[in-house]
Amino acid sequence: MSRTPGQQTRRAFLRSAIRLGGALAVSPGLGHRARARSPRSVQAPYNGRGLTPGWGLNTYYAYGVDGFTADTLAAAAQAMLDNGLWQAGYNLIVIDDGWASFDRDADGNLQADPEKFPDGIAASVERLHGMGFSVGIYGDMGTQTCQSRPGSYQSEQQDAQWFADQGFDHVKMDWCNAEAFDARERYTLMSEALVATGRPISFAVCNWGQQNPWEWAPPIANSARTASDLSGIYEGDALDHYYGSYQWSCMLKNLDGNQHPDAAGPGYANDPDCLQTGNGFFASEREEVAQLQLWAVMGAPMLLGLDVRSVDDRTLRLLTHPALQAINRDPLARQGRRLNAEHGHEVWAKPLADGTSHAVVLFNRTDSASTAALRWHDLWGAGSAYVRDLWNWTEIGTQRDGWSARLQPHESRLLQIAPLS
Ligand code: GLA
Repeated sequence: MSRTPGQQTRRAFLRSAIRLGGALAVSPGLGHRARARSPRSVQAPYNGRGLTPGWGLNTYYAYGVDGFTADTLAAAAQAMLDNGLWQAGYNLIVIDDGWASFDRDADGNLQADPEKFPDGIAASVERLHGMGFSVGIYGDMGTQTCQSRPGSYQSEQQDAQWFADQGFDHVKMDWCNAEAFDARERYTLMSEALVATGRPISFAVCNWGQQNPWEWAPPIANSARTASDLSGIYEGDALDHYYGSYQWSCMLKNLDGNQHPDAAGPGYANDPDCLQTGNGFFASEREEVAQLQLWAVMGAPMLLGLDVRSVDDRTLRLLTHPALQAINRDPLARQGRRLNAEHGHEVWAKPLADGTSHAVVLFNRTDSASTAALRWHDLWGAGSAYVRDLWNWTEIGTQRDGWSARLQPHESRLLQIAPLS
């Protein structure tokens, strides 16, 4: 039996849902079945940044390499203020590859393409700051970026200082033309160079999961990409258990590549690449919702890849769903784990900061309808638990032993589940 929240506003519903586990945990006789989980050691982020995953816009899937200028970015920022994306949490703009000139200046500094940024890039950063955004920039640890702009190899200190001087708050460093190098060593150099500038700058490693960044990036970066670009399937990518279209398979590849939950915590997130919502990449809204819910439960950075100047209401409703922010940016910052994946019917669970409840995604990656089932035993032990559907605003109510849902191909359900006595 399910019922909708009646007089409650949706936000109030969500707030009470998010508090549900905590409230139950302190009520006598309730919540005591919660298995004592040793909390992941919570260390302070090495640079004080990125306590929860970054949210915003990345230019690469939205505008490509040559489809943006200073004016495009200002218009995108204004649109995000007008259409509510900024208010929903998307307040970082990452200027990806294509911003730079092909040559350094006479002093050896990077410089912006003068046609795209006629007033220089610092002016753009200042303008975006004035509109309430943090601003990120793209560079590369190798000799050249993926689009043949100058790389930072052996110019790490100079470039880090230049990024800080322009006013950037976030730096993403790619790995093209660097494959022969030791990634841990190169990225550590850049991380230290950024810290040495004295400017608080969050640092995003982007070496596509090569050389296992989840093993060494948490103490030196705020995120690291764990797979190749979500836009394609590349040499060396595993191709098992894929379904549906090429695009759907790309998403599954990045989802599967991101399974390193022990590395994640406050200050560090595994990054399976940007959101492809609303840009025509996916074949259906169901696929878009699945990516959003899975990225939320994995605690992944939520960077948009669509032209935010022209977003339809349908897409806005998806992107601004308050459950995304509540789950993705839960202060415990744990990455959801895949509990089981029988025949492509998956159950994902992310422990929440209230100490007992979990965000859960039931997910069907396959091309046929099927049932995904979760037993409380997999989370806490036997007994009853209270279930809410956070996406559809429905109370599913108290359930004994477990719960299951019939899922259409590529469908997902985002739940909050709290143990009862
Ligand atoms: C690589 C990165 C992408 C993007 C492009 C830009 O492919 O993985 O995220 O930055 O380079 O050229």
